Amino acid sequence: MKALVARSYGPLEQLEIAELPTPAPGPGQVLVRLEAAALNAVDKVLVTGAMRDALPVTHPFVPGVDISGTVEAVGAGVTRFVPGDPVIAWNSVASGALAEYALIDDAPSAARRPVDLTPAQGAALPTGALTASALLELADAPRGSGVLVVGATGGVGSYTVQLARQAGLTVLATGRSDDATYLRGLGADHVLDYRAVDIAEETHRLLPGGADVVFDLANAGPALAATAAAARPGGLLVSPLGGPPSFDRDVTALYGGTRAVDGRLAALAAQAAKGELRIPIDSDYPFAQARQALVDFGARHVRGKITVTF
Ligand SMILES: NC(=O)c1ccc[n+]([C@@H]2O[C@H](COP(=O)([O-])OP(=O)(O)OC[C@H]3O[C@@H](n4cnc5c(N)ncnc54)[C@H](OP(=O)(O)O)[C@@H]3O)[C@@H](O)[C@H]2O)c1
Repeated sequence: MKALVARSYGPLEQLEIAELPTPAPGPGQVLVRLEAAALNAVDKVLVTGAMRDALPVTHPFVPGVDISGTVEAVGAGVTRFVPGDPVIAWNSVASGALAEYALIDDAPSAARRPVDLTPAQGAALPTGALTASALLELADAPRGSGVLVVGATGGVGSYTVQLARQAGLTVLATGRSDDATYLRGLGADHVLDYRAVDIAEETHRLLPGGADVVFDLANAGPALAATAAAARPGGLLVSPLGGPPSFDRDVTALYGGTRAVDGRLAALAAQAAKGELRIPIDSDYPFAQARQALVDFGARHVRGKITVTF
């Protein structure tokens, strides 16, 4: 099969499309013929090796964790899928999405793709929507709460804004000056231009006392203290990137990440198929340009997801 391959840790420019053996599904595994994949920040750091201590990979390495395709074959014990099923999955890093075939587990991280979703829409859903859903669950904010989403135009942020609005929360969202229409379209009540205003001050102006929850999808480590300042005393700072256990003010830090609880991915896909959840695709690249897609991701402003179609 053709795959986008890294032969060792190093810059994205080393990636090349090469021939690799098509994997065979073991027990509990499903072989998927890719129709589309979507990109995530983790793809880049796994290629460069920036996280090699925490998340080592073996080479040749194929990046990509968001999968959309058709079931080609199933391993022993697989009960939920048969060949020919359209499927989407948030995959482990072991069998990358940027290849003609990938292995996924017969697990809650995989679901049937509704017929109303295109392959690219299916690919753009799993990591972004599952992560947003998990972070909202972590925050457990009651209806009527006011929340700030920092990094709202990104892959996770675009779903966080929508799911927060669905949960009856007042949503402040950060973006660039020309992102206001996009973010309001997702359900943001207020858009804060993070390059022009002080985010914490503006949040306290719009939500007197501060936000009940700050979802910070852009900053990590000590930098989170600046956005934690947007939360009210007794409020929460929620991040998928990690940071200090506490801040020098009364704000609780909660760190979480992508989780696929049973039925969640199927439910999100069903919502999207009914038009109740928008799948924001910034741009779609052909597989032949998959390396360029990864180079562009993070290097230019992206609204939602970048997908790669086979
Ligand atoms: N722990 C986990 O399981 C997990 C899961 C998924 C994602 N993540 C991490 O969560 C982060 C967000 O993921 P993603 O897929 O949404 O990434 P993404 O698509 O690259 O989005 C990042 C967003 O942050 C914005 N941003 C960058 N600097 C900013 C700043 N100083 N202030 C406000 N916004 C800023 C970007 O806007 P501009 O385009 O304007 O710069 C963009 O909207 C990534 O770092 C990813 O690695 C972790």
